[in-house]
Amino acid sequence: MIRWENSKYSEKARRFLSKPPEDFPLFTLLDGAVRSGKTSNIIQKIPQIFEFVGNEYLKVFSGYSRNSVKNNVIMELKPFIENYLGGKVRYNNSTGELDIKLFGKEYNCYVTGGGKSDSLNSIQGGTWDFWYANELPRHNYGFYNMALSRLTPENARAFADSNPESSNHWLYQEKIKPYLEGEGKDVFEYWHFTMYDNANLSEVFIKNQEKLYKGAFKKRKIDGLWVIADGLVYDTFNRGKHSITQARLLEKIKKYEIIEFFLGIDWGWNHPTACLLLGNSIDGTCYVIDELYSAKLDFEGVIRWINQKQSEYGKFFSYANCDNARPEQNEKLRRYTNLVIYEEKPKVDDSIALVRSLINYDKLIVSEKCVRTLEEFGLYSYGGNNEDVPLKINDDCMDALRYGLYKYLTEN
Ligand SMILES: Nc1ncnc2c1ncn2[C@@H]1O[C@H](COP(=O)(O)OP(=O)(O)OP(=O)(O)O)[C@@H](O)[C@H]1O
Ligand SMILES: [Mg+2]
Repeated sequence: MIRWENSKYSEKARRFLSKPPEDFPLFTLLDGAVRSGKTSNIIQKIPQIFEFVGNEYLKVFSGYSRNSVKNNVIMELKPFIENYLGGKVRYNNSTGELDIKLFGKEYNCYVTGGGKSDSLNSIQGGTWDFWYANELPRHNYGFYNMALSRLTPENARAFADSNPESSNHWLYQEKIKPYLEGEGKDVFEYWHFTMYDNANLSEVFIKNQEKLYKGAFKKRKIDGLWVIADGLVYDTFNRGKHSITQARLLEKIKKYEIIEFFLGIDWGWNHPTACLLLGNSIDGTCYVIDELYSAKLDFEGVIRWINQKQSEYGKFFSYANCDNARPEQNEKLRRYTNLVIYEEKPKVDDSIALVRSLINYDKLIVSEKCVRTLEEFGLYSYGGNNEDVPLKINDDCMDALRYGLYKYLTEN
C-alpha cells in the first residue's frame, strides 16, 4: 500500500496532477516504462476528476480482468480515499459494483474486465461520464471502441495507462502514432513516462528493474517504446542460473519439497509431441522435471510414459493441460490415466508473459535431463512479424511448457 504522505513528485507528475480537469480532452493516455507512476498518478487524479464530472452517470473502471483492476487499482484507491480524504469506498468484486462517497457526493461505479472478446456484452447500453482503463493495450478492441462511444456527456473524461506493446498494436496505430504526427490532439492527449518520472523509486530499484528485461522487452518495459518483438522469446533464461542436475532435483522430490506434479502436453505427429512433467514447491518455484519429446508417437505411447513416470517418481500427477487441437487424444488420456485433463489453450502473449515473469524472478528451474526443453529456450524466437507471435519452429516443448504453467499459474 502506498504511503501517500511520503510521496515525492517529479516535474512531470506535478504537471499532470496540477492540470485542471476541464483542460484535459475527452481521452488521456499515460504510457511508458514499468513502475513509472502511471497508475498512481491516475488514482490521485480521480477525486478531482469526479468532482468536476459530477455524479449523474455511471463511471467505469476496466482492465484485462476484474481481478486485475482490483489488484492494480482498487487496492490503492480505497485506502487513498478512505484514509487520506475521509471518503468511503464499497466494492463487491463478484458483481463489480463500486460505490464511492467523497466530499458529500456519492458516485456509482462499475468494475469490469475488458480483455476477452465476450467482454463487450457486459458494457452494452448506458451512458458513462468517466472511464479508467488500466493497462489499455490488453483490452479487447471491440470493448475499447464501445467504451469510447459510451462517453457522451459533455464533461465526460477517460483516462488510461499502458506499457508499450508492438508498434502494430491498434492503440499505437490509431491513437499514439497519429498524435505524435500532430493529429487528433483536440480529443486525445498522450503523456509519456520513464522510471525517472517516478520520484519515489530509488536508483537501486531502477537498476534492478533494468536487469529483468532484455531486447525488445527492455525497449518496451524500460525505455517505454512501442517496438516489434524480435529475437529470443525467453531472452532472460540463463542456463547457469535456471537449470539443476537431475540428481539434486530427485533429492528435492524425495524430501517432499515438490508438492504438486502436473503436465503440459503439445500434441504432434510429424511435428513431435512434447509432454513436460512439471512440479512446484511451496515457495512457488516451478520445476521442469522430465520431458517426452518424440515424433510419430501415438496416444498409447504418451499414456505409457505418464504411467511409467508416476511409478518412477513414486508420485501421482494431478492434472495435464493439453493442446485443444486434438480432442480425441485428450479423451483417451481422460479414459486411460488417473489425471484430470484440461484443454485450455491460453493466448500466446499472455502465457509467454507469465512464463517470462517466472524466469525473471528465478522461479523456473529446468532439470538438465530435459535436453530438448533446454535447447528450445535457446532457439524459440519471435519472427519480427506483425503480432507478438513466435515462429512456429523449435516450439514444441515451449508450447507444452506454456500450457502446463498457464494452468498452474492462473489457478494459484
Ligand atoms: N505518489 C506516490 N507516493 C509514493 N509512492 C509512489 C507514488 N507513486 C508511485 N509510487 C511507487 O511507485 C510504484 C509504481 O507506481 P505505479 O504502480 O503507479 O507505476 P505504473 O507506471 O503504473 O507501473 P506498471 O507499469 O508496473 O503498472 C508504486 O507501487 C509505489 O510504490
Ligand atoms: Mg500500473
